[in-house]
Amino acid sequence: MDAVATIKQHQSLRNFTGAAINREQMTAIEDAIIQTSSTCFLQWVTAIKIRDKNKLALIAELSGHQVHIANCDTFFLFCLDVTKLEHISGIRPPYGLRFLIGGLNDCSAACQNALTAAESLGLGGVIIGGYKAGIKEISDLLKLPKGVVPLLGLCLGVPDESYREAQKPRLPRSWLIMEEEFSNPWDKEGAQAEYDAYDQAFKSYYQSRKHNPQDDTWTSSAQAYLGKTLKPAAAIIAYLKEQGFDFF
Ligand SMILES: Cc1cc2nc3c(=O)[nH]c(=O)nc-3n(C[C@H](O)[C@H](O)[C@H](O)COP(=O)(O)O)c2cc1C
Repeated sequence: MDAVATIKQHQSLRNFTGAAINREQMTAIEDAIIQTSSTCFLQWVTAIKIRDKNKLALIAELSGHQVHIANCDTFFLFCLDVTKLEHISGIRPPYGLRFLIGGLNDCSAACQNALTAAESLGLGGVIIGGYKAGIKEISDLLKLPKGVVPLLGLCLGVPDESYREAQKPRLPRSWLIMEEEFSNPWDKEGAQAEYDAYDQAFKSYYQSRKHNPQDDTWTSSAQAYLGKTLKPAAAIIAYLKEQGFDFF
C-alpha cells in the first residue's frame, strides 16, 4: 500500500495471530528505521530487536502488564545511543539536553517509520511508551551500557484482523492544523458545539467498539489521565543520570 493510504488507515493493533514476520518484511522494516532522518545526522538511534518469548514476557510485565508485548512477534526498543559518538570523538558523559532531545526526536521518527512500513506490508502494531515503568530492569535485561537509554518501544506482528475496530476519531482539522499562526480554537464562533460534537463522536466510537467498549468521551478520558498521579519522575531521572545523561 502506498504511504498516504497506509498512514490514513492507521490504528494501533494489540492482538496478533502468532504468525511470524517474515525475513523480507523484517528487512523492509529495518530499512525504514535505517533510512529515517537524523538530527544533525548524528545517527543517535540503536533499535534493539527482541523476539525471544521469555524476554518479551518479562518486558510485558515490566511495562505494566502489557500483554500485547508478550504476544507480539517483535518488540523494537528504540534507544538513544551515544557510544558510537564516544568512540569516534572522545566525548564523555554527562550528556546534556541536546543529546536527550536529539535522541527523542530521532527515536520517535524511526519508530513511526517502522510502524508505517510494517502497516504498509499488512502487519500491525502499537507504539509503547509504558516501558518506562520498568526502565531500569529492562535496561539491565538488555545489557544497555552507559551512554545508551531506551526512549520508545514498538510491538509488531501479524494482526488478528478480528480485533480491527473503526478508527479512533481525532479532533476536528482546525483544532490540530493552523494556518500561518496560532489561533485559539476556543475563540472561534461555534467552538463549543464543534467540540461537543467531537466528544460525542468519540463516545460513540468507544461505545460501539467490538472489544473493550467504554462510555468515555475524549474529555473524560483526558481528564482521567491528567488527574492520575504517575510514578514520580525521580526514578527515571536517576536512571538517565546513571546512564550518563543530564539536564543542562
Ligand atoms: C509515544 C506513544 C506512547 C504510547 N504508549 C502506549 C503504551 O504504552 N501502550 C499502549 O497500549 N499504547 C500506547 N500508545 C498508543 C496510543 O494509545 C494510541 O496511538 C492512541 O490511543 C490512538 O489510537 P490509534 O493509534 O489506534 O489511532 C502510545 C502511543 C504513542 C505515540
